[in-house]
Amino acid sequence: MKLMIVGADGQLGSDLVSQFQDHAKLIPLTYQDGDITDPGFVNRICRSHAPDVIINTAAFHQVPRCEDEPQRAFEVNALGARNLAFAAKDQGSRLIHISTDYVFDGLKTTPYTEEDAPNPLSVYANTKLSGEYFVSSICEQFMILRVSGIYGQTRCIGKGSNFINTMLKMYRENKPLRVVTDEILTPTSTLEISRQIEVMINHNLNGLFHVTCEGACSWHEFAQSIFDILDYRVKVETAKVADFPSIVKRPHYSVLENARLKEAGLNRMSHWRNALQEFLTTVEVNQL
Ligand SMILES: NC(=O)c1ccc[n+]([C@@H]2O[C@H](COP(=O)([O-])OP(=O)(O)OC[C@H]3O[C@@H](n4cnc5c(N)ncnc54)[C@H](OP(=O)(O)O)[C@@H]3O)[C@@H](O)[C@H]2O)c1
Repeated sequence: MKLMIVGADGQLGSDLVSQFQDHAKLIPLTYQDGDITDPGFVNRICRSHAPDVIINTAAFHQVPRCEDEPQRAFEVNALGARNLAFAAKDQGSRLIHISTDYVFDGLKTTPYTEEDAPNPLSVYANTKLSGEYFVSSICEQFMILRVSGIYGQTRCIGKGSNFINTMLKMYRENKPLRVVTDEILTPTSTLEISRQIEVMINHNLNGLFHVTCEGACSWHEFAQSIFDILDYRVKVETAKVADFPSIVKRPHYSVLENARLKEAGLNRMSHWRNALQEFLTTVEVNQL
C-alpha cells in the first residue's frame, strides 16, 4: 500500500508514520513540502505519487485564532480538504480525513452517534464540518473520522502543546492547577487512533465514523488522572467554564459513541483511562 500522510510531523501524523512504517510505502508530507490550500501543489504531489490511501491530519485548529481569521480557517479546514478530495478522486485514492467532536453543540446528555445532526458553535467547528461535507460529496472512497481531545508523544504543533503538556508545565512551574468540571469529553490517544485506522483500512470501511476512546470524563477528572497515574501528589482544584471567559463557544458535552465501528464489530478503542495509563507509562515523561 502506498500511503500518503498529510501533516506527518504533527501529533497524530507522527504516530501514523510509526504505525505504518513497516507495512506501507510511506509518503510523509509536512507543511514544508507544500500547503494543502494550494490546489496546484496538491494535484502535483498526488499525481506524482499516486497513493492508494491519503490520510489528512492537517488543520488550522487554534480555535480562538480561527474566530479572528475565519477566511484562513476555511481555506485550510474546508478548501484544503476539498483540494485533497478532488486529487484523491482523480487518482482513485481512498481519502481518510480527520474531523472533530466540535461539530456538535453539546446539548445532548448521552453520547453522540454518527446519526446525530451536527450544529457547530465556532468558526473552527463550522470549517471542519465544511471539510467533512466536501470530502463526502466529492469522494466515493473515503473515511471521515471524528476524534476528540487528542494527545500524543509529539506535541500538537498547531496549538503548541496538548492538555497533558500544559498540565505538566503548570505543575513544574508551581502554577495553581484549576481545571473545569463542566466540559465533558473523551480524551483520546493518537496511538489508539493510529491502530484503529490500520484496522479500518484493512477492512476497507467507507463513510463517517466516530473514533474516540471509550468512557467519558471532565477535563478536571482527566487532569487529576494524569497526576494520579504518575504518582505525583497533586490535588487539582475544580473550576467552571464560566471562570475562564473566552470568545469561543465550545460544546459542554462532546462525548462520541463509536457506533459504526461497533456495528461493524471493529471497535478497537480502549477506555480513556487505560489509554492514558499506557501513554504515561511508555513515554519519557520528562520530555512531555
Ligand atoms: N488536537 C485536538 O485535541 C483535536 C481534537 C479533535 C480533532 N482534531 C483534529 O485532529 C487532526 C490532527 O490534529 P493534530 O493535533 O495532530 O494537529 P497538529 O499536531 O497541529 O498537526 C497538523 C499538521 O498539519 C500541518 N499543516 C497545518 N496546516 C497545513 C497546511 N495548510 N498545509 C499543509 N500542512 C499543514 C501542520 O504543520 P505546521 O505545524 O507546520 O503548521 C502539522 O504538521 C486535525 O484535523 C484536528 O482538527 C484535533
